[in-house]
Amino acid sequence: MKKILITGGAGFIGSHVVRRFVKNYPDYEIVNLDKLTYAGNLANLRDIEAYDNYRFIKADIVDAAEMSQLFKRENFDAVIHLAAESHVDRSISDPTAFVMTNVIGTVNLLNAAKDSWKGDYERKRFYHVSTDEVYGALGETGMFTEETAYDPHSPYSASKASSDHFVRAYHDTYGLDTVISNCSNNYGSHHFPEKLIPLAINNIKNELPVPVYGKGENVRDWLWVEDHARAIDVIFHKAASGETYNIGGHNEWKNIDLIRLLCSIMDKKLGREEGASAGLITFVTDRAGHDLRYAIDSTKLQRELGWVPSLQFEEGLEKTVDWYLENEKWLNDVTSGSYQAYYETQYHGR
Ligand code: NAD
Ligand code: TYD
Repeated sequence: MKKILITGGAGFIGSHVVRRFVKNYPDYEIVNLDKLTYAGNLANLRDIEAYDNYRFIKADIVDAAEMSQLFKRENFDAVIHLAAESHVDRSISDPTAFVMTNVIGTVNLLNAAKDSWKGDYERKRFYHVSTDEVYGALGETGMFTEETAYDPHSPYSASKASSDHFVRAYHDTYGLDTVISNCSNNYGSHHFPEKLIPLAINNIKNELPVPVYGKGENVRDWLWVEDHARAIDVIFHKAASGETYNIGGHNEWKNIDLIRLLCSIMDKKLGREEGASAGLITFVTDRAGHDLRYAIDSTKLQRELGWVPSLQFEEGLEKTVDWYLENEKWLNDVTSGSYQAYYETQYHGR
């Protein structure tokens, strides 16, 4: 029996991790802690919320006293920490929110773990979920390895880099058992439509302009979210204390090529004439400090822990489109209300 705290479990990746652990480990007790910001949505977990080994707690990781009391009361065996402000564009307009949740929130969890687990560190684990964006931007060639020096450019990536440093510092200074993984861009179901792929799916569906920043030349390395959740499962159970693993799918796409593929898939699904949706592509003002290219070398994870991605991108993208078309209510619910105001501010006059 293990009691595991998963933070940010109502978000995109967190909900896939919670679902996987609840279903695959009936003898674990999974406690999902989430503030339910605009990105957190309990509808992401409807299918598992009645399971006996699942529990939800609404709380803010920025509240140090609450985190400390929670850890003392619950005596968790491990933490898988995903709660974060996660969108680069929002970090450009409100960097402080990213410092609060991503840096202060992570330090609060580390302090709560350090104090409540004292004398028992070898039986406990603090797993921090991070991003490849901490490594900065690549040129036309090369890949990020676990040895690549940190060089973050956006307030989002700077806050994640800072949280990674704190996690390592707590391992090196206090001997806490910590593990970090840095993953490339995820895609799949339950992805909030502020990010490129679900935003484009929603706009194509509604025949709205599909905004592509700059010339669409930026490259991202896309991984199916369930492959990320599976990697987290493997790393959580098998990694040695203090280790770091990069996770990625060797799947680089220029934004414009990805959007053209998506348009073509959706033309077929929606019974539109081939090429109709591509007419919605609209080049807009580039993102400030836009990283040119990300590419992950996940050789270490493949070699040491035997993880390999399971799904080809075209197949995964089709599955993703199918999910959004079949879950119209989910999409309508998350794009009503405050999303409209966000969209207007982010894209108006761009
Ligand atoms: P998301 O924005 O979909 O979800 C974040 C969740 O954290 C939400 O449920 C939100 O309510 C919760 N949260 C935010 N602030 C909180 C706070 N102060 N207290 C408690 N809960 C809070 O993000 P995601 O895309 O699922 O990313 C999850 C993690 O994975 C993040 O740490 C992110 O940096 C990392 N990551 C994401 C990607 C990606 O492609 N999306 C890639 C690599 C790593
Ligand atoms: P995003 O999904 O925000 O992820 P990240 O910035 O963390 O990589 O963006 C993916 C890529 O798509 C990135 O190069 C920015 C670009 N992009 C657009 O061209 N248009 C958009 O409307 C959005 C949200 C992103």
